[in-house]
Amino acid sequence: MSGKVICTAAAAALALCLGTGLALASADDAIKGRQACMKASGKMMGDLAAMFKGEKPYDKAAVDAAIAAHDAACAGWADWWGPDTQKGETVETWAKPEIWADMAGFNAAGDAFYAKFVAVKDSTDEAGFKAAFPELGKACGGCHEKFRRPKE
Ligand code: HEC
Repeated sequence: MSGKVICTAAAAALALCLGTGLALASADDAIKGRQACMKASGKMMGDLAAMFKGEKPYDKAAVDAAIAAHDAACAGWADWWGPDTQKGETVETWAKPEIWADMAGFNAAGDAFYAKFVAVKDSTDEAGFKAAFPELGKACGGCHEKFRRPKE
């Protein structure tokens, strides 16, 4: 991943990476990665909500496209939550310390989200999609409530 390359280059120049254990990316890169993923999550929810509310006709291909865009933006998820990413070097993060105090709880919220996400992804008709979608929205909030600092 590009984060690893940057980290390796930084290590060569500044011997910085040695102190950060298993971290693959700089804190800034990790924070930017997870925030871009979350922006894609927001975009996906907007696209899906339009179909859920009937503002747009249900279209399985559009559901798949929204999900694929999210998957692409979030592929690096596992590399973005190292203990050294609680604060950025220059980038602000809204991730709460509770993530690192309760990594098991954070991962459980992630797993709960993923299960709801797969239910939407695997839905094959309008009724299935409309049954699965609200649960997905709840799963976003289920993690944010405990683990994300509000932006204001
Ligand atoms: C497992 C926990 C978790 C789940 C599930 C989750 N989020 Fe987040 N979200 C976070 C955390 C933590 C942050 C703060 C990241 C940071 O600032 O470093 C965040 C930030 C955001 C942001 C702000 C991004 C920015 O530009 O700073 C948006 C928008 C967002 N989430 C939307 C969503 C949506 C929509 C879903 C569901 C489809 C979702 N999230 C699911 C943990 C989660």
